[in-house]
Amino acid sequence: MKSNVESRPLGKTAILISPIALGCWPIAGMTSADVVEKDSLATIEACLDLGINLLDTAFCYGMQGESERLIAKALGDRRDEMVIATKGGIHWDPPRTQVLDGRPATLRRECEESLRRLNTDRVELLYLHAPDPTIPIEESAGELKRLMDEGKTRTVGVSNVSLDQMKAFAAVCPLAAYQPHYNMLQREIEADRLPWCRENGVSVLVYWPLMKGLLAGKLPRNHVFPTTDSRHKYPMFQGQEWEKNQDFVDELRSIASETGHTVAQLVINWTIHQPGITVALCGAKRPDQIRDNALGMGWNLTERQRQRIEEAIARRGLPVTRAAV
Ligand SMILES: NC(=O)c1ccc[n+]([C@@H]2O[C@H](COP(=O)([O-])OP(=O)(O)OC[C@H]3O[C@@H](n4cnc5c(N)ncnc54)[C@H](OP(=O)(O)O)[C@@H]3O)[C@@H](O)[C@H]2O)c1
Repeated sequence: MKSNVESRPLGKTAILISPIALGCWPIAGMTSADVVEKDSLATIEACLDLGINLLDTAFCYGMQGESERLIAKALGDRRDEMVIATKGGIHWDPPRTQVLDGRPATLRRECEESLRRLNTDRVELLYLHAPDPTIPIEESAGELKRLMDEGKTRTVGVSNVSLDQMKAFAAVCPLAAYQPHYNMLQREIEADRLPWCRENGVSVLVYWPLMKGLLAGKLPRNHVFPTTDSRHKYPMFQGQEWEKNQDFVDELRSIASETGHTVAQLVINWTIHQPGITVALCGAKRPDQIRDNALGMGWNLTERQRQRIEEAIARRGLPVTRAAV
């Protein structure tokens, strides 16, 4: 870990993680079509020099595990310099249907396949990607605990769960991490799950801090998403919602320029300094993006700037969204 990067413990363990992680979904090329392997490998490699020591992937990132394979290829013999988090419990049915399957045998098989793809004998963090509605979550938790006891993962986490599900899970398996979506416009977890995690020493690693690029401030107002870009399906990127979001980003732009940082850096910095937030999982598909995002750590917004951001969020109001995995 670089000395100028403030590190944070993963749960109650001695594993130290950077407040920004590389989200390894975009490199698998499933959101946008303009993803090439050379850029994906360079994006992962860039983290090694930027003080980012956490890679977030999953069994289902890529139809054939492309994300995990790219990580193995990029890291080579530098694997031990990175904390790797992966997830099990979601797989694809062709052509592109996500299946939630948290049965113990499936979790074990997926974990073992993830380790093969990652070319490693253990990961630092293994999540249940989402609860399987057909079985009690305790059954999934029990298998993840066994995988941890066997040394296939050093810690266990959960993603996309309610507070009750998280409590039920934690009653069976020690919980180091929780992974929900969270950003300036989607803050539901502040009401219940975030306080519970703070009280119980569970790290909170949030996805969509940039709301899929919306809050990076680089998509022009007249941007037209090609049909190959799945973002056109999200209400946040459509019609009036899109216009309101662009107005909001314009407000952020003026605060960002005062700090001497980009909008993406401002948004990430705000996120990692929210009480109870441990890590912002920043997706990127090119090295310039993760270099830009890495400059979101290592500095602090003033109280006045944080207040102006809160005022802008209040003016924006609650966006129309839909839950997504
Ligand atoms: N547990 C779960 O169920 C779950 C669900 C979703 C995500 N995740 C995790 O969270 C990570 C983050 O989510 P995400 O990747 O979907 O979304 P994100 O981090 O909110 O946004 C990523 C996108 O933002 C754009 N971007 C990033 N940095 C930028 C920069 N500096 N300037 C301009 N644009 C920039 C890029 O899009 P373009 O270049 O294409 O515009 C990139 O693909 C994922 O990679 C994954 O690891 C977990």
